[in-house]
Order: sequence, then C-alpha cells, then structure tokens
Amino acid sequence: MRIVIAGGDGFCGWPTALYLSKKGHEVTIIDNLIRRKWDDELRSNSLTPIASLKDRIALWKELTGREIRLYVGDLNHYDFLRTALEQTRPEAFVHFAEQRSAPYSMIDREHAVFTQVNNVVGTLNVIYGIKEVVPDCHLIKLGTMGEYGTPNIDIEEGYIRIVHNGREDVLPYPKQPGSMYHLSKVHDSHNLMFACKIWGLRATDLNQGVVYGLHTDETMMDPALVNRLDYDGVFGTALNRFLTQAAIGHDLTVYGEGGQTRGFLNIRDTIRCIEIAAEHPADSGEFRVFNQFTEEFSVMDLAYKVRRVAQREGLNVRIAHLNNPRVEKEKHYYCAKNTKLKELGLEPHLLTDEVLRDILLTACQHKDRILPQNVLPQVTWK
Ligand SMILES: NC(=O)c1ccc[n+]([C@@H]2O[C@H](COP(=O)([O-])OP(=O)(O)OC[C@H]3O[C@@H](n4cnc5c(N)ncnc54)[C@H](O)[C@@H]3O)[C@@H](O)[C@H]2O)c1
Repeated sequence: MRIVIAGGDGFCGWPTALYLSKKGHEVTIIDNLIRRKWDDELRSNSLTPIASLKDRIALWKELTGREIRLYVGDLNHYDFLRTALEQTRPEAFVHFAEQRSAPYSMIDREHAVFTQVNNVVGTLNVIYGIKEVVPDCHLIKLGTMGEYGTPNIDIEEGYIRIVHNGREDVLPYPKQPGSMYHLSKVHDSHNLMFACKIWGLRATDLNQGVVYGLHTDETMMDPALVNRLDYDGVFGTALNRFLTQAAIGHDLTVYGEGGQTRGFLNIRDTIRCIEIAAEHPADSGEFRVFNQFTEEFSVMDLAYKVRRVAQREGLNVRIAHLNNPRVEKEKHYYCAKNTKLKELGLEPHLLTDEVLRDILLTACQHKDRILPQNVLPQVTWK
C-alpha cells in the first residue's frame, strides 16, 4: 500500500513509519520538523539523543534496503501538500502532524491560537487535498480520548444512542475537552465528519489514549534509530515525568489528589492500530471512530507503579502532591469502551513492571541529558 505518514519525525510517527516500511508498504513521511524547534523554544530536549530525520531515513535504507520518501514541509502550506499528494498518490494518509501538548496550548493566547490554527487548518488542508487529488484515499486521523473529557457515564466509541422525548437517534458522543489543544481535536473531528458526509470521503478518527513506551523492534535495530522520549512539564506525560524523576532522585510530583484517570497504550500497540485501520479502511462516506487505548490508570496508580519498580532498582523514591496547575476533576467516574480495535485483531501489550523498568533504565543511562528544572510544571491553566 502507498502510505503517507504525516508527522513521521515524531514520537508516534517515526516507529509507525519504520514498522509499515518493514512490512513492505511504500512509506512517505511528511513533516516540517517543528517539534524539534519547540524543544529549542522551551529549552528542552528528548531524553534519548535523536538523529536528524534525513540521517535516520538514510540509515534505515542502509540497514533494510527499504526507501522512505521524505517531504519536509508544513501541512498549513496547501501548495506543498497538494504537490506531495500528486507525487505520492497515497491509498492511506496517516495524520499525526499536530501540536499535541495540552500545556503548550495553554501557555498564552499566542500558543492557543498557534495550536488551533496549526491543527485545524492543517487537517482542513489534508481533507481538501484528499478530496481534490486522491478522493478514494483513507484518512487515518489521530484524535484523543481527551476529546470526551470525564463524563459521569460510560464513554462510547464515537457515537451514543439517545432516546429523547420518545424519539431515538445515534449521535456523536458529547465532547468536553480540557484544553485548547483538546479543543482543536474536537474541531478536527467535526470537520472530518462533515467532509465524509458531503463528499463521500473515508476517514477513521483514532481517539488515542496516552502513549507510553519507547522502543519497537525496528527502532532497536540501531541506536541511531531510537525514538524520542519527552519528559518535561510541557510535552512529557505523567508516566514519563515520574520515570525521569525517579532516575534523578526527584520526588514523583502528582498533580493534586492524583485520581485523574485516563486510557493508556503501549507505542507498540499504536503502530499496530494504525496497521489495523489501514488494512480495514472505512467505507466511502463513513466517518468511523475507534477508541485507541488498552488499559485505564489513575495518576496515583502510575506513581505507585513507578515507585515500586524504582525501589527494586535501589532508587529511593517518594511521592509528593503539588497544587494542580490544570483545571480538571481529581476524582471522577471513568469507564471507556475500547472493543472495536480488539475485534479487528489488536492484541494489547500491557503496562508491566518490565516495560517500566526498561524505560527507567533508559532514563538512568541518559541521566546526564535530563534538565532537572524541566521535570516540574511550568504552565498553569488559570
Ligand atoms: N503521544 C501521545 O501520548 C498521544 C496521545 C493521544 C493522541 N496523540 C496524537 O498523536 C499524534 C502524534 O503524537 P506524537 O506524540 O507523535 O507527537 P509529536 O509532537 O512527537 O509528533 C508530531 C509530529 O508532527 C510534526 N508536525 C506538527 N505540526 C505539523 C505541521 N503543521 N506540518 C507538518 N508537520 C507537523 C512535528 O514536527 C512532529 O514531528 C498527534 O496528533 C497527537 O495529538 C498522541
């Protein structure tokens, strides 16, 4: 299959590109490399030293004989995107290329505007590009479980059956996003649903949970293929921050009570879910939604797990509670459905102590790269 991976230099996109290339697909990466510039802006870095995208791709070819085509450019530049689509004519377009940090989107007005323009306009351009150049192409778009928020009822996969005043309908599940970033994803979902309905495009919205893990079989083929790992207060997830804090002897900083519960999945399952979606495309005119996560944990669950694994490695780790810089419920009901990808063949890799130990040891190995001032929150919602 001819597959475009937009955002192929990022944490999810890079291992996905390698995996699909190894499976024999013709992979093209589109990326404007802006994630690396945000590291400079925030005086931050990936815990793992990552090679330039060109060098990574050249090494992949040397090791496997497989070519990955590269277009360096911005999805917000329509002429660039259109040319890339005309030259590659993808059958599947995997769209990871967005600003994905909630705290980054909440820094100030400029960052909120940037995030929503980058994400919403980028996705609109992808929609129009597919409509004009490759209307049969299956768009696989990364959304987030954060679009739903934390309602006091079960979360369905995209749609909910509602009976109201004696009448019944299946409607989009209500969205209660918790940041300007999560709002951008909701706007994307609405635009996609509309485009599928009026132009007969085919799209799958993958409402992804928090992704953890680092290595995949392909990124482990050479140290220079290693994936990025974000640990800072802006781009790092709670789990990555805790593991990094444990490596440098810092308290594990739980925001508020720590009862915030979310869906999680291993990076190995992210790449498999993309493959499953590509192998089973949405029908023409269909806007399909899958909830892409395998397990649910609260922030305290994660802190206890990291403390246990770190203590076994001889690290002295304490848990501390900080005033929550976000505006969110710290204790709430959470039960989300996630059966559709499993029905199509997903076999989950679970969050075992082995997986945690593996990332912890990587953090210890690169301890000298960790910037201690970055493991604390720097952005507040208020
Ligand atoms: N990482 C997670 O835990 C997680 C969870 C849920 C959803 N997601 C979604 O998955 C996708 C990928 O996440 P990630 O963690 O790999 O993010 P990432 O920041 O590591 O990668 C995103 C990539 O997209 C590129 N990019 C951004 N805007 C672009 C533009 N306008 N034009 C071209 N390239 C652009 C960046 O340079 C970067 O390489 C995002 O859409 C994110 O919202 C991620």
